[in-house]
Amino acid sequence: MTFIGVGYLGATYAICYAELGYEVLAVDVDPKRVEDLSAGQMPFHEPGLDELLKRNLAAGRLRFTTSYQEAADFGDVHFICVGTPQRSDGMGADLRYVESAIAPLAPHLTRKALIVGKSTVPVGTAEWVEHLVEKYADPSLGIEVAWSPEFLQEGYAADDVMRPNRIVWAAKTEWATAMLHAAHKGVFDLASTEDREVPVVATDFATAELVKVAANAFLATKISFINAMAEVCEVAGGDVTHLARALGFDPRIGNRFLQSGVGFGGGCLPKDIRAFQARAQELGAGEALRFLHEVDLINLRRRAKVVQLSAELLGRRPGPAGPDLSGARIAVLGATFKSNTDDVRDSPALAVAGMLAEAGADVHVYDPQGADNARRVHPELAYDKSLAEAVTDAELVCVLTDWAEFRNADPVTLGELVRQRKIIDGKNCLDGTAWAAAGWTYRGLGRPAVG
Ligand code: UGA
Repeated sequence: MTFIGVGYLGATYAICYAELGYEVLAVDVDPKRVEDLSAGQMPFHEPGLDELLKRNLAAGRLRFTTSYQEAADFGDVHFICVGTPQRSDGMGADLRYVESAIAPLAPHLTRKALIVGKSTVPVGTAEWVEHLVEKYADPSLGIEVAWSPEFLQEGYAADDVMRPNRIVWAAKTEWATAMLHAAHKGVFDLASTEDREVPVVATDFATAELVKVAANAFLATKISFINAMAEVCEVAGGDVTHLARALGFDPRIGNRFLQSGVGFGGGCLPKDIRAFQARAQELGAGEALRFLHEVDLINLRRRAKVVQLSAELLGRRPGPAGPDLSGARIAVLGATFKSNTDDVRDSPALAVAGMLAEAGADVHVYDPQGADNARRVHPELAYDKSLAEAVTDAELVCVLTDWAEFRNADPVTLGELVRQRKIIDGKNCLDGTAWAAAGWTYRGLGRPAVG
């Protein structure tokens, strides 16, 4: 099998499917990426993948190439894993990379093969890919298209791929379904050795495409729901962490993705809820997804709230252009969009760091993995090499990614380094009482003031 595109999705799948025993060839147009991966170097930080990459390269089951000709010769199943970012001119998804994966692959195919879409796409894309295949491939070969969305979370990517909680696919013929079964046999076999079952939802193209964006829309809504409750707690004097805990015991609600804080970010949730709205609007169902606009707004308001709280704690009055934080030294702990990744795409932490700097603050950022990526987006910020360095002389500390290193930080030790013991817990991941006991003024989001 081949994987076209070795971004987060394609690289993870290629490595994990080699680990499951398949012969894998992964293709990308970026020669540097291909060279690095071929040499056993991961282009991003993802727990566990480093070792799996090296092991499967050594076993000879995994190769990387820039040649579509080689991919066409090699594969019977080709997984499309290219990115579908937000369009620069609107909210919709940019599908140019999907076309630029099919266009060079299809003409080189010389036998019947299955092309399986994995990328997150607007509903209707699978049909369009069928037309692209008709246009670019030899029609006598009977190349088929199937769709099978993925649900991997960064930080747990290897496990999510090898031990998925469900597989969704859409295929139009028995041949394509049999090919999909064979291409997932490794996943089913691993599950049976671990006494698990992986449910398969076999459906049509439109539903398979929709499942993915609907899942991300639901997760984003759940997070914005609890963050909306945080806003209400702030004015009513409640504690959103207790509220969430109490809600979560109801199994109909559940406690996962009910973690309040600075909101969701990353390369998926924010762009997917926007693309979903744009597509629904095109199809005439815009009203059905209007609530996702509100989900987006609630999410973005949390970032502004951290800036507002910072001004309050530093005793700066908001002016007509927002607060003036000039000269205030602020330590921002966390730059990535969540812990256990080096991904800073649409990161709430980095966005807030940028907003604080924009308001005049002297911002010192520390992130255990994300500094290099963050520097490329916000070169104007200072990036420190350690937590201790970042907080030294700080008048305010903002924890904006819940890395274990921050959750486990000792308030007494840190208290000796800072100029003022003031902390904003943008992930509600610290024990406010313990920090207050060490002399800190603690502010969570949607929680009463402590200290
Ligand atoms: C998300 C989905 O969870 C995956 O199922 C999906 O496959 C993936 O997008 C994708 O479309 O490829 P990911 O972007 O890796 O995965 O990140 P999540 O773990 O979903 O976290 C998203 C954001 O929500 C992070 O900024 C995180 O800090 C935030 N979050 C998460 C909260 O603020 N509260 C929570 O309770 C959970």
